[in-house]
Amino acid sequence: MRILITGASGMLGTALVEMAADKYEILAQFNKTEPIKGAVEYLQCDFNHAEFLLPMLNRLKPDAVIHLAAITDTNFCEENPDFTSKLNVTAVFIIARWCAQQSIPFIFTSTDLVFDGKNPPYSETCEQNPLMVYGEQKAMAEKKILSIYPGALICRVPLMFGYKNGKPGGFLRGLIDTIGKKEYASQFRDEYRTPVYTRRVAKGILIGLKKKLKGYLHLGGSQRLSRYHLGLLVCEVFDLDSVYNKPSWLKDTELAKKRPLDVSLDSGLAIENGYDPGDLKADFIDLRERLRIN
Ligand SMILES: NC(=O)c1ccc[n+]([C@@H]2O[C@H](COP(=O)([O-])OP(=O)(O)OC[C@H]3O[C@@H](n4cnc5c(N)ncnc54)[C@H](OP(=O)(O)O)[C@@H]3O)[C@@H](O)[C@H]2O)c1
Repeated sequence: MRILITGASGMLGTALVEMAADKYEILAQFNKTEPIKGAVEYLQCDFNHAEFLLPMLNRLKPDAVIHLAAITDTNFCEENPDFTSKLNVTAVFIIARWCAQQSIPFIFTSTDLVFDGKNPPYSETCEQNPLMVYGEQKAMAEKKILSIYPGALICRVPLMFGYKNGKPGGFLRGLIDTIGKKEYASQFRDEYRTPVYTRRVAKGILIGLKKKLKGYLHLGGSQRLSRYHLGLLVCEVFDLDSVYNKPSWLKDTELAKKRPLDVSLDSGLAIENGYDPGDLKADFIDLRERLRIN
């Protein structure tokens, strides 16, 4: 099976390419960041130019598409809703429709931020009510996908940690950099997540593909914890001074209007299907060791 993985240069894409490459033939798309080359075929394409998409798909003719490419910076989405919706909504729709026409598997990664954070934990049947632009875009993409392709699989993913191009990715990069420089990182005590390692999510996606799951699937971590407590765990594993992991309260800030307090995911359905959400500390240690090796 030839699988097109979009966003292969990203944090989740890096883990997914690594874990899928021994089972499948992988076509790995990136945009600006040429990934450290593995034994897979890489291709460059900017999906903001919608006119590139169908020629690319018709040329590659994959047997399945796992669509990870997105603008994941929530602040940038908030400030640039029109620009970011080209990738986060329009391109998704074009690719999903092409997969529907070919009757091939289409897997899309969405976010816990499609929820408002008022009634956690969130299962697959809970109603979307996004507070921020990024969440709105993902929620819109989810609905569009399922309206044109009910056979598609939408994997909702929480806050992830992992690596790309041999360095920590996502929130972890900023946290390690800031605290490593002995600067304070403000961490909310009242913002809860079910964080998860990219390698766990990658396995969950591959289970979804193998079992031909459709509809929604939540791929969260095993523990619900606050950003502040997550920071303490990072300090412990990466040997950082936790004094700089500074507690603060989301409810006291302007951000509270746009940032849900608790979007913990219930991943029971995925676990029934063989998904392992892992152990947070063990997974941070695994990540630390991999970064030492790389
Ligand atoms: N990170 C999280 O905590 C999190 C949480 C929930 C859901 N998700 C979802 O999971 C997926 C993967 O997230 P991630 O953290 O791995 O993302 P990431 O590290 O930010 O990577 C984003 C990927 O999208 C590609 N991309 C960006 N602009 C593009 C464009 N104009 N055309 C084509 N490709 C473009 C990037 O390519 P270049 O780098 O080469 O430019 C990169 O490969 C996304 O759909 C995201 O919304 C992430």
